[in-house]
Amino acid sequence: MNVLGIETSCDETSVALLSDGIIKANLIASQHFHVKYGGVVPELSSRAHLQMVTPLVKQALQIAEINVNELDVISATAGPGLIGALLVGLTFGKGLAFSLSKKFIPVNHIEGHIYSGFLMNDKPEFPYLCLAVSGGHTLLLLVEDEMTIRKLGTTIDDAAGEAFDKVAKMLGLGYPGGPNIQKYSEKGNADAIKFPVAQLKTPYDFSFSGLKTSVLRYIQNNYEDIKNIPDADLPDIAASFQKTVSDSLIKSVKKALKQYKINSISLVGGVAANKYIRDSLAGIAEKHKKKFVVPDIEFCGDNGAMIAYRAMQLFKNGKNFGLNYNAYPSLKGDEFI
Ligand code: KG4
Ligand code: ZN
Repeated sequence: MNVLGIETSCDETSVALLSDGIIKANLIASQHFHVKYGGVVPELSSRAHLQMVTPLVKQALQIAEINVNELDVISATAGPGLIGALLVGLTFGKGLAFSLSKKFIPVNHIEGHIYSGFLMNDKPEFPYLCLAVSGGHTLLLLVEDEMTIRKLGTTIDDAAGEAFDKVAKMLGLGYPGGPNIQKYSEKGNADAIKFPVAQLKTPYDFSFSGLKTSVLRYIQNNYEDIKNIPDADLPDIAASFQKTVSDSLIKSVKKALKQYKINSISLVGGVAANKYIRDSLAGIAEKHKKKFVVPDIEFCGDNGAMIAYRAMQLFKNGKNFGLNYNAYPSLKGDEFI
């Protein structure tokens, strides 16, 4: 079964080809030009997707040595994401499917991330705990099978990735914040500054807005010119912030481990690329004798392979949404949005 996956929800145009669940091609064109604006400019993102989507589809077919007529399913991210950006991939995919009389499957972006552990050789075993951490979401989920996801917790304010991006901006480290914070943290002491982990009444929810404010207060209290923090001080601030995010995520996972019988723990989404968080969660999994599955870095951020894989799962489960389906095909309504 050959599945084409198209992802254009934000600042990566990505096209992948999967044959029977095996990745034959996964091309990612990142829109680095947003750096100079300090964040993603939606209109520019849509235009860049328009330029990239056709050549990437052609190239992916070439690399995979699959003729366009041999495709069984064409899929694209339907949301959530930037609407103009989404429309590029979605209408391209639908148009291609319509012209070739192929099946079209729209995919929920977060569901793509949630099942992205299945792109690895060593796959998660159901039921599993999934920590889905990206620029727009921070979710703790109980994934029971291919079609059943129970949301245990979510962020009540900022997403973890958003906090990385905003704190990086405060520190003058630029966009995207996550990788830059990680880089600076490598030389820092994670215990240098005690930032608070949010204490919430709901057991599995997250909050990062207070942490963001604490970092700002720390900067204001310690530096006269908050736009000019000495370079030598950045590693400790970055490392202490990164550790606090990791501790908040792990706090909820530890609680869930007490309550739910699970076989694996999976970490997915853009923030799953973070080495400190990967290592910390791997340690927890090992301690509790659970299998730990985290995608290779290439499949943590937005990628077409996870979209194609999710489309294959939906297709196999009879969820053949078809060309007329325009809404985000989330399993439980708009729960993830
Ligand atoms: O999943 P993703 O590529 O896009 C969304 O669906 O949002 O996630 C992007 C987020 C950004 O906030 C980025 O700063 C963060 O993932 N990120 C990281 C790292 N690499 C990317 N955060 C922490 N450490 C990283 N190494
Ligand atoms: Zn994403």
